[in-house]
Amino acid sequence: MSAPETTAAPGTITEPAIAVRVSSVDKVFETQGGRVHALEGIDLSVAAGEFVSLIGPSGCGKSTLMRLIADLDAPTSGSIAVFGKTPTRARLDQEYGIAFQQAGLLPWRTVAANVALPLELHGVGQAARRAKVDELLDMVGLAEFAERYPDQLSGGMQQRVAIARSLAEQPRLLLMDEPFGALDEMTREKMQADLVRIAGETGAAVVFVTHSIPEAVFLSDRVVVMSPRPGRIREIVPMRLAGAAAGPADGVGAVEGAATRAARTEGLREDRSFFEMVTAVREALHGAPVATGARGVETR
Ligand SMILES: Nc1ncnc2c1ncn2[C@@H]1O[C@H](COP(=O)(O)OP(=O)(O)O)[C@@H](O)[C@H]1O
Ligand SMILES: [Mg+2]
Repeated sequence: MSAPETTAAPGTITEPAIAVRVSSVDKVFETQGGRVHALEGIDLSVAAGEFVSLIGPSGCGKSTLMRLIADLDAPTSGSIAVFGKTPTRARLDQEYGIAFQQAGLLPWRTVAANVALPLELHGVGQAARRAKVDELLDMVGLAEFAERYPDQLSGGMQQRVAIARSLAEQPRLLLMDEPFGALDEMTREKMQADLVRIAGETGAAVVFVTHSIPEAVFLSDRVVVMSPRPGRIREIVPMRLAGAAAGPADGVGAVEGAATRAARTEGLREDRSFFEMVTAVREALHGAPVATGARGVETR
């Protein structure tokens, strides 16, 4: 048997460096109307600290996959590990924060009390809780709304509360299912920039579902393109944005990963490499043939 040439091969990364490993996962729903094959043969690894987006047509199983990772449902076959643990163990250990499409706030709690909830559940003392909540609300621009109730806020503001809550415990993993869908474009771009910064600062891995190609490109290290019925991974497109719009400190990002992260500035949205990546993802999504050796496109 031939062994890999070097120990640095991707397959030899030790398990703790893997935030999420999805192996040969199928999900079938048995419904009144028959069987719905929602996911088929899903294989995906997300490294610790990596930002991965899922994109694909409505009904292709993005939310189902997120729910499986978050232990809100179980695969029909195959397995999922979160930091090497079962999804249930990872949930009990509060290894991840969740921000899903519906904000899911408790209506009888104030904004501050909603954000504080995970900290309360984890036994964080009141003073530390207060300080953390203030910091988080400040970050999502809702400091003045701490004592309001969710139904006094717009949909976008509620979503920002949910995002603050998901970050409360500085989890090593964030699972986000179209969290910015309800936001206006300007708020959305600000939240994207904040999210990239926070993920970078905390070293959190992020699995992020979106319908927006530019959003996926701006945020991600890799974009997973899915196809529907049954949901499969069609292609995984690594974002090659290194050096783009890196600004005056251009020379600093000699390491590709660092350069990629450093390039997530507003200027990036106007950079040529950004448009190239948008095109690459769009072609993958629509199944258009991509020239062999096309820059940054890896076909699985
Ligand atoms: N609880 C469920 N029961 C039956 N079918 C479901 C359930 N959840 C999702 N589905 C079906 O699985 C498929 C994938 O759904 P979903 O994961 O929500 O897609 P996406 O998030 O990509 O839009 C759809 O056909 C949907 O109708
Ligand atoms: Mg969905």
